Amino acid sequence: MIRIQGLTKRYGDFTVLHDLHLHVAAGEFAFLQGRSGSGKSTLLKLLYQEIGDYTGEIVIGDTPAQALPKYELRRRMGVIFQSFELLEQKTVYENVALAGEVLGRTGEDIAPEAQRLLERTGLGGKQGLYPHQLSGGEQQRVAIARALLNRPPILLADEPTGNLDPETAMAMLVLLQELQREENMTMLVVTHSELLVEAFPARRLVMEQGRITAHAAG
Ligand SMILES: Nc1ncnc2c1ncn2[C@@H]1O[C@H](COP(=O)(O)OP(=O)(O)OP(=O)(O)O)[C@@H](O)[C@H]1O
Ligand SMILES: [Mg+2]
Repeated sequence: MIRIQGLTKRYGDFTVLHDLHLHVAAGEFAFLQGRSGSGKSTLLKLLYQEIGDYTGEIVIGDTPAQALPKYELRRRMGVIFQSFELLEQKTVYENVALAGEVLGRTGEDIAPEAQRLLERTGLGGKQGLYPHQLSGGEQQRVAIARALLNRPPILLADEPTGNLDPETAMAMLVLLQELQREENMTMLVVTHSELLVEAFPARRLVMEQGRITAHAAG
């Protein structure tokens, strides 16, 4: 569950998020749309506490975000960043496994799940390659596998299919939605793709100049 009340984020005189209210129920899958610059990534970064310095309230599960230690936040929330943020010195497999290692999981515990996710994202044969040896879409799929490794109760995805062709994008969304249902995850997916939004039943949130201006059922 994610609950946001009166969230305002400013950079100097510029207000990125303006008294924003949002509630995503436990187990809900919601799309977040909106023009470039409307504040979608800023909202996700605040949720993940990659950036701070805001006014208003953010509650994750049952706890105010500020009260959650980083470790607990990472356990509760998986994130697929708009710019992937893969580690260049690590292989595909290592990039995925690291998400478990930082939570103290052992290699043995991680391996079956990492293998399964790499297969499901179509990267089974590329586990030993480094990010620079992958296409943009393949890098994006590594980021998807990494975000899902710990089966977080909440997944935030910032344009997780922005670099994929329509067919692969559709397949990734099918995968995300399958996992979302299997695990009853709460999922918030930023997308510019009308094609995806129309293909998947989910609530639609629309962001405009730092506010959520429309809610539509999927
Ligand atoms: N560190 C920063 N300092 C100043 N302004 C910022 C900063 N980060 C973001 N902004 C501004 O906030 C606005 C919203 O940015 P954000 O990245 O949230 O947009 P977005 O909705 O994710 O857009 P896109 O669809 O292009 O990814 C932009 O106008 C951007 O310039
Ligand atoms: Mg963005």
